[in-house]
Amino acid sequence: MIPYSHQFIDDEDRAAVDAVLRSDWLTQGPKVREFEDALTKYCGAKYAVAVANGTAALQAAYFAAHIGAGDEVIMSPMTFAATANAAVWQGARPVFVDVERETGNIDADLIEVSITPKSKAIVAVDYSGLPCDFDRLRAIAKKHNLILIEDAAHSLGAEYKGKKVGSLADLTTMSFHPVKSITTGEGGAVLTDNEEYYKRLLLFRSHGITKNQTDFINASEGPWYHEMQELGLNYRLTDMQAALGITQLKKLPTFMAARRKIASFYAKELSGIKGLVLPMEFPDRKSSFHLYPIRLAGDLRSRRKEVFEKLQKAGIGVQVHYIPVYQHPYYRKLGYQKELCPVAEDFYSGEISIPIYPSLEEGDQRKVIVALREILKS
Ligand SMILES: Cc1ncc(COP(=O)(O)O)c(C=O)c1O
Repeated sequence: MIPYSHQFIDDEDRAAVDAVLRSDWLTQGPKVREFEDALTKYCGAKYAVAVANGTAALQAAYFAAHIGAGDEVIMSPMTFAATANAAVWQGARPVFVDVERETGNIDADLIEVSITPKSKAIVAVDYSGLPCDFDRLRAIAKKHNLILIEDAAHSLGAEYKGKKVGSLADLTTMSFHPVKSITTGEGGAVLTDNEEYYKRLLLFRSHGITKNQTDFINASEGPWYHEMQELGLNYRLTDMQAALGITQLKKLPTFMAARRKIASFYAKELSGIKGLVLPMEFPDRKSSFHLYPIRLAGDLRSRRKEVFEKLQKAGIGVQVHYIPVYQHPYYRKLGYQKELCPVAEDFYSGEISIPIYPSLEEGDQRKVIVALREILKS
């Protein structure tokens, strides 16, 4: 079976993890900071805080932005449930805004009508790795005094107008799950230029506790003294994971080039098939191609399940990204109505993600193309 995605791990990665295992620090050691510094340097952000996974990164970002009970957070439903769940965990209410038909990203034209006095933030998910329209999102956020958060779980390595993802929003969250741009097994990070957010992220990651004397609220009672100032969690990344993150990040430019090469090959070989819509890019935006989402439109639309099953039968790993979040039973229970975002539902009904990852060999890319062409012809 050709998987829909797969990590790339080499001897350098294995040696880096092994070296940590032979050291004194398995967690809370020097590798986490080293990884964070590498991330800030790569992305062009001031601060990075590495955390346990992308979901923790979202919750930490929401906490840093003071998102809590009674607040509304605007986001698209064309995302993994975690984007919304983390807001619910913070006591806030996700407000789903429909997506652009061509990209699956939040439709900036529809945001302003969803803004209320309770709105606190816009969360922009870079669906499949294509950055959202950040100039427009930034302008809307500024006009309405909202915080702009980028869920960049798909888009580490992507660019918008020459700027790297990680430097585009007030807070940017990342995931290092094995299917993502780089991996640490499980893992995530939040990037920001804002010092107050940075301090809150550090607190949240470690139970809300600080050992930093200059930040104490009360007078120190001795060398053991520390303070729990906020309600946090243990969302720390281990040093083994951070070491892997460092060597993975070094390979990110190669990973990006490989993904982009596969995407161009697919685009060349699959364009022109009637009813098949391929992912688009813009001259000023560079996708990370975390996913290669194809869409069946027109007469092909009704065949999504059949095509999906036939691809699986042909040994090709496929996925669907995503069932619009509010359609899940949990969100329906919270009162979200079906047909809330018709474009997202339309997008979902024809979508199939075909394999794309750096080590996907040309022979396997061809197998995907041949199988898809055959199935669509029949
Ligand atoms: C858009 C998006 N946000 C958040 C997450 C959560 O990341 P993690 O699985 O690392 O918790 C994912 C994971 O797939 C994702 O795709």
